[in-house]
Amino acid sequence: MDQTRAPYVEAIQQLASSEPLHVMVPGHGGTPAAGGAHLADVYGERIAEYDVPLMLDGIDLGDHSARVQSQQLAAEAWGAKRVWWLTNGASQGNRTAALAVRGLGERVLMQRSSHSSFVDGVLLAGLIPAFVAPTIDEAHGIAHGLTPERLDEALREEAEHGRKASSVYIVSPSYFGSTADVRALAEVAHAHGAALIVDGAWGAHFGFHEGLPESPARLGADIVISSTHKLAGSLTQASMLHLAEGPFAEQLEPLIDRAYTMTASTSASAILMGSLDLARRALVQGRDQIGASIRAAEQLRERVRADDRFLVIRDDFSQFADIVQTDPLRVPIDVSKIGQSGHWVRDRLITEHGVFFEMSTATTIVAVIGALAAPDVDRVMRALGAVADEADALRAEGRADTLTAFPPLPEAGMLRMLPRAAYFAESVVVTAHQAIGRISADTLAAYPPGIPNLVPGEEITEQTVTFLQAVAASPTGVVRGAADPLVATFRVVRDPVTASLQA
Ligand SMILES: Cc1ncc(COP(=O)(O)O)c(C=O)c1O
Repeated sequence: MDQTRAPYVEAIQQLASSEPLHVMVPGHGGTPAAGGAHLADVYGERIAEYDVPLMLDGIDLGDHSARVQSQQLAAEAWGAKRVWWLTNGASQGNRTAALAVRGLGERVLMQRSSHSSFVDGVLLAGLIPAFVAPTIDEAHGIAHGLTPERLDEALREEAEHGRKASSVYIVSPSYFGSTADVRALAEVAHAHGAALIVDGAWGAHFGFHEGLPESPARLGADIVISSTHKLAGSLTQASMLHLAEGPFAEQLEPLIDRAYTMTASTSASAILMGSLDLARRALVQGRDQIGASIRAAEQLRERVRADDRFLVIRDDFSQFADIVQTDPLRVPIDVSKIGQSGHWVRDRLITEHGVFFEMSTATTIVAVIGALAAPDVDRVMRALGAVADEADALRAEGRADTLTAFPPLPEAGMLRMLPRAAYFAESVVVTAHQAIGRISADTLAAYPPGIPNLVPGEEITEQTVTFLQAVAASPTGVVRGAADPLVATFRVVRDPVTASLQA
């Protein structure tokens, strides 16, 4: 296939150059002169011209449309049988995957450190989940992944108790770039008769350079959720779902098609989809550019290591049995030696220096470098040095940040009701103190990374309350799904006994 082409984008450009007269949606008229001037003033002349609706002959109508051709190019590029373009992020992909695998059976074994969108999918699909805990870096409060042995043990245990899972959901790579042994995990899942979903949101660029891990679709995963916009160069929200060749492909294809129809907009954005076509073409042709990004990340790590106030966290990943590779484009930095929290450091970098790191925890800040982007490492290091100097001065005055004593990542509470039953049960909002020991009706996730600390049906523990309130109080932390921004209250199941009887 000709990977130098971008058929979908080319078809839209051709339409735009034919001077079409739009008396259809979108209401901006299709050109600055026809009513799109307010958009063109900010986003440029082309934005309205390329923002075309769905179902146009020559663009996306029919089985051989330009859009289908571009999606086939994407499938080839990532080693998939078929791809679906998503305009509502990998979150849409996770919900779609959950709805699809419900067609294989009602039980899913899922890594507890899933993204909250997969929990949403479990609720929507009415899947019955069992959880398996990933390895945890206690020092930094980081969830990594699963070993094949751990997965095998968990699947065996579930089957022995008459709860055989028909699908498995894992996350790889993690937010910190730690990558699990997907090939072996797929073999284990298949040996137990289960399909494997890999949430590879953070690894959409994998497989496009010898310095990167392989695309999970080539390693035996059945479904791969890929957040193309994260590190692979498409516009924000533009993502993909990959269906790989494998033992479940025939069964899954129509299930995914039907689930996609339920989760997709009927007005999916041509601008976002076009950006997927362009990102694929750039990645396939971008070996040198990707190499430059990998070198920039390596340079950043070397310069961080040279300042003894910092540590590069991936340097000690070898102690975790689940991590077989690491994404070189992630630079997680331990800042705990400077006596201020990662949240404080990230905040100072933004407000004083205009340098935006992806995320922070109590002890870390994480830089991510796009596969097609090489940042100004000198500027990052100047800013980091200046913030560390500021912290040194504060420490000399005895003003260390109390957030460095951040509560530990809480263990999951006991699952006392099925998540869907708890979500739909009659609920009531109570104070945090009253919530301890009761059953959550909501999914609450510290963001980033968006891993649920509570899922519906789980018992709310004091440890979880303390952790979530600390996240909400930190300068850059948000708790997704909380009943109020400070997590002073929780939505709990009103009457668990009646609710579970109804479920
Ligand atoms: C593991 C994981 N899966 C899925 C998502 C959702 O991705 P998106 O923001 O593209 O919807 C995220 C977002 O951070 C994530 O970390």
